[in-house]
Amino acid sequence: HEIEWTPDAVQKGGFPHFMLKEIYEQPEVINRAIHSLSSDTLPRFLCDAKSITVVACGSSYHAGLIFRYLAESSCGIPVRVELGSEFKYCSVPLTDVIIGISQSGETADTLSAIHKGNCNNVQTVAVTNVLNSSITRYSDVTILMQAGPEISVAATKSFTAQLGVLLQVVNLLSGRISDETLSHAGVAIEKVLLLNMEDAVTLCARAQHIFYVGRGPFYPVMMEGALKMKEISYIHAESYAAGEIKHGPFSLLSSETPVVAICLPGPSYAVMLGNLKEMKARGTPIVAIGYGDDTELSELADIVIPLDEEQLYLQIVGATVILQMLSYYTASRLGREIDKPRNLAKSVTVE
Ligand code: G6P
Repeated sequence: HEIEWTPDAVQKGGFPHFMLKEIYEQPEVINRAIHSLSSDTLPRFLCDAKSITVVACGSSYHAGLIFRYLAESSCGIPVRVELGSEFKYCSVPLTDVIIGISQSGETADTLSAIHKGNCNNVQTVAVTNVLNSSITRYSDVTILMQAGPEISVAATKSFTAQLGVLLQVVNLLSGRISDETLSHAGVAIEKVLLLNMEDAVTLCARAQHIFYVGRGPFYPVMMEGALKMKEISYIHAESYAAGEIKHGPFSLLSSETPVVAICLPGPSYAVMLGNLKEMKARGTPIVAIGYGDDTELSELADIVIPLDEEQLYLQIVGATVILQMLSYYTASRLGREIDKPRNLAKSVTVE
């Protein structure tokens, strides 16, 4: 699975920022990540696992949370997801397998969580983008996501590649996701890359606070969207499970505080619509990711960003890329230093 990266792969290739270049690489990246794993290469002990823990930090943690929703519903395996930095304080019994997700393979907190697994004879899997990184040496098995070098500090293609690998793991463990669905992931991203984000960017760029809300697997999708927004635009973006907004954040809603929401047909649709109505009643501007022809949603939302995918997996991938673009173009409108945001590092090697 080793790929030699050419110098071209680390040039901007005509894009104003590495981040935008990396966003545009995602159709190819996700397909490559999905194919990085097959039933022959999936570790046997992972197939036999009765319980799984995922440990990760930052964006990689959000990929782990999405994996939990999908693996639990499709495979019936309990999945615990822990922040690398908190895992050392967890003293409940360890699970059969620990999966450490780390783009760089060098994040100290994730490495120490894997180390804890090793000390307790738990089998460990690394999902990483860097061959021979520390996490590959700490773990029993490595799955390389093959996203290519990511230069922008804010993770984009490495996150999508993590999703690709993890969707394939769920697929192989459950046999429930059709190969056809997964093969459409790249096309779903290509469609998103054509979207015009201007109106949504105008609304976000003048805000000081933005709430991101979703339900089910879209909640961690929103966590990742909010993280991207705060990392590169410096706007305070906070993610909430949509059902929790009424338990506190309601007091902060006003015409000055936009909400970004995902409201796609599926199990959470009706209740999301109800939540959005409650927010709208507080004067909150709403940017909704939903079906382009959803009249009920378009009457409620100030802006609908269309995502016309029926399959949950494609909805997750498509919404992820929409939120990356929303952050990128908002940060660009505000003249931020996108590839190297203040105070942030690509890889954090201290606890
Ligand atoms: C840093 C990066 C984030 C990343 C996190 C975890 O904070 O700025 O983009 O998600 O580390 O990194 P890892 O390499 O372990 O995925």
